[in-house]
Amino acid sequence: MKRLFFALLLTVVFTGITSAQGVRRKPQAYEYGQVIINNSSSSAGLAPVTFDHWIHRSKFTCRLCHVDIGFAMKAGVTGIRAADNMKGLYCGTCHNGKYEHQGKKVFEACSRDFSREDGKRCEKCHYKGRNPRKEQDFLKFAERMPKERFGNGINWEKAEDLGYIKPIDYLEGISVKRKPLPVQKDFAIGSAVEGLPDTIFSHKKHTVWNGCEVCHPDIFVGVKRGSNKYSMQDVFEGKYCGVCHVSVAFPLTDCQRCHIKPVQ
Ligand code: HEC
Ligand code: HEC
Ligand code: HEC
Ligand code: HEC
Ligand code: HEC
Ligand code: HEC
Repeated sequence: MKRLFFALLLTVVFTGITSAQGVRRKPQAYEYGQVIINNSSSSAGLAPVTFDHWIHRSKFTCRLCHVDIGFAMKAGVTGIRAADNMKGLYCGTCHNGKYEHQGKKVFEACSRDFSREDGKRCEKCHYKGRNPRKEQDFLKFAERMPKERFGNGINWEKAEDLGYIKPIDYLEGISVKRKPLPVQKDFAIGSAVEGLPDTIFSHKKHTVWNGCEVCHPDIFVGVKRGSNKYSMQDVFEGKYCGVCHVSVAFPLTDCQRCHIKPVQ
């Protein structure tokens, strides 16, 4: 049985990693969760936009951006335009030159007229390739955080538990105050393979980051447990749990963080 399990495991890892990552190299810790947005920048003669999740998730919940502000959970799909940002939508919700975060005004996004001085501001988002200062900023930030082996090399969950980060979940004028829905119980997702530890899924923890709306109904359609039948291969292909755990939340290489329940 053990042998069968390991053979299966190897197949899953191999096909999974090749299909999910292709020949892409493993990202550096500071690059994990980075999204390059380039629907209109290049054709307008500007460098593509680089969006880093690590900076933003240390300050805001996933829910705030992906539900209240309305960013898609897939690179390039939102179709952000400079005009949207100037109207105070998308990046412009916060990057409007007025919104204050930790006592500092957040720099403004796109504008039609700009001076040479403003050009530096454009380059904060519209930049190509490597930016050594950002790498430094990341290292300085990560140094103070609880460590993890994969992804950003940061245990985000622990960082929040210990109060090192306090992600904001509500923006005046953007978010709607609503009664919190009752939180569902944690449950084990039984694995079809003997010897493989079950996955424990915590509704409670996931709701703190994502609310309900990020997952239901888009990612997990039928809310009745067991109505979505999915395999590890689906997850590796970026579906179900893989929507987040391939690119932003801790990656799939961290098998034991999901397959956790001790085998009886
Ligand atoms: C806070 C981040 C941010 C900053 C700062 C920023 N932009 Fe943008 N800009 C974006 C995003 C995101 C897009 C959409 C990118 C895409 O899909 O290619 C965009 C797109 C654009 C486009 C493409 C045309 C269009 O209609 O979408 C232009 C032109 C543009 N920005 C001009 C500027 C100028 C000029 C500045 C500096 C004064 C600037 N931006 C600063 C985020 C930013
Ligand atoms: C400040 C806003 C913001 C926060 C906070 C945020 N995101 Fe995102 N996220 C974005 C934007 C912007 C994109 C790119 C959308 C686009 O290109 O159209 C994105 C894209 C994604 C993608 C797709 C990545 C890819 O490579 O295709 C995933 C998955 C994702 N986010 C998950 C999360 C999770 C999980 C959290 C919380 C831990 C989170 N996001 C927090 C703004 C945010
Ligand atoms: C919910 C609010 C919010 C949204 C939405 C948001 N940001 Fe930010 N962003 C921030 C805050 C706060 C900071 C830290 C500000 C600072 O350091 O001055 C930041 C920092 C950044 C930085 C780092 C700048 C630097 O020099 O270190 C970049 C780049 C950036 N954002 C790009 C974007 C882009 C591109 C989008 C849209 C796709 C976006 N942000 C959407 C709040 C937001
Ligand atoms: C990170 C994703 C995620 C978030 C966030 C989330 N859920 Fe779920 N939910 C799931 C998954 C996965 C299942 C099981 C679906 C399956 O296996 O078919 C589920 C199942 C359920 C079920 C059926 C439970 C059962 O025993 O049959 C209900 C009801 C539900 N969710 C409600 C909620 C509510 C209410 C919230 C917010 C308070 C929420 N969910 C937040 C992923 C999520
Ligand atoms: C909408 C995005 C999203 C989806 C979908 C999602 N997760 Fe997560 N998950 C997160 C985030 C964000 C964290 C916080 C830790 C991090 O970012 O590394 C997390 C943390 C976890 C943790 C560690 C915390 C804990 O519960 O003990 C486990 C285990 C986990 N996820 C399993 C799953 C499983 C299994 C599924 C699919 C049934 C799933 N996740 C679907 C975003 C998501
Ligand atoms: C984000 C959580 C998560 C991570 C990380 C994860 N898995 Fe899974 N895994 C699941 C879920 C959910 C299932 C489906 C459970 C079921 O069988 O109903 C699953 C199923 C499996 C199965 C059962 C057979 C199949 O194909 O569905 C195997 C084998 C497996 N995983 C191996 C691995 C290995 C090896 C790793 C590390 C490279 C890994 N998993 C990482 C969530 C995860």
